[in-house]
Amino acid sequence: MGKNQVSLFGKDVLDLKYFSPEEIGLVLETAKEMKNIIHRDIKKVPTLRGKSVVTVFYEPSTRTRTSFETAGKYLGADVVNITAGTSSIVKGESLRDTMLTVQEMGFDAIVMRHKADGAAEYAAKVVDHPVIINAGDGAHAHPSQGLLNLFTLMEHKGHLEGLKVAVVGDILHSRVARSDIWGMRQMGIELHLAGPKTMMPRFLYEEPGVVIHDNVEDAIRGADAIEVLRIQLERMKAGLFPTRREYARIYGINDERLKLAKKDVLVLHPGPMNKGLEISPYVAYGEHTAIQEQVENGVAVRMALLTLVLTGGSK
Ligand code: NCD
Repeated sequence: MGKNQVSLFGKDVLDLKYFSPEEIGLVLETAKEMKNIIHRDIKKVPTLRGKSVVTVFYEPSTRTRTSFETAGKYLGADVVNITAGTSSIVKGESLRDTMLTVQEMGFDAIVMRHKADGAAEYAAKVVDHPVIINAGDGAHAHPSQGLLNLFTLMEHKGHLEGLKVAVVGDILHSRVARSDIWGMRQMGIELHLAGPKTMMPRFLYEEPGVVIHDNVEDAIRGADAIEVLRIQLERMKAGLFPTRREYARIYGINDERLKLAKKDVLVLHPGPMNKGLEISPYVAYGEHTAIQEQVENGVAVRMALLTLVLTGGSK
């Protein structure tokens, strides 16, 4: 298919492994236009007028849920939120029944987050009409976060091909790392991973296009960007790292370590951050950070995704 014929109309957004470089490129291009809308005085456009979006979140979220909601609202869609604590999910309703219920209400898109790997793929099999957008399933995938990382890199570096990106930290529990691996590799980015061996899944050693380092210094040396991952204390079994202090000393991204990367290195973090653990406050708010910008870019990328899957791209 030629570049002009790429369409995401009706496509479930389950994982970046199902996205071609052309499709990723289309999302990034569209997100650029969407970012202009966010900067307008009056942000509302009618692109998704008459469409309805529901967010169904079984796990906590600040950025992802709110940015999908905001994205839908800027585009004129009706957006409804369902969170586990205040819905029939607490009464034990199954994922299948919740999905069928929202389908019957006529929603066009379901944006969902769930603690189980593969939950979004399962939901996509259960429903016929609404498009499923995976906003994080267990440690498996978080495609819109992968896309907003790519968008942020593109904005700063002007290109993606050939960039060297280090991803550092709790890779084991990170769906963001997995979506980065799929998305960045597709776009020709060289990936360098580092973290405690106890937090490095074995299968990654076999992955093409991914270099695994024993120490963080080797991973970030000469890097164009470093993505720092949160230590996911809520998913953690005991004993994966000795103490917080030890972790910060050996793997934490601080001022000293940053000097090993390129002069114009960009620092990313999906948030929320454990400051003083995986990242020092100086780096989190310093001159190299794009962490706050990632939040705005998250809205633009989610506007792009909703537009593309619900309308095929008309503006
Ligand atoms: C990430 C997530 O939920 O996977 N956060 C996010 O979407 N902004 C990463 C994390 O929780 O550490």
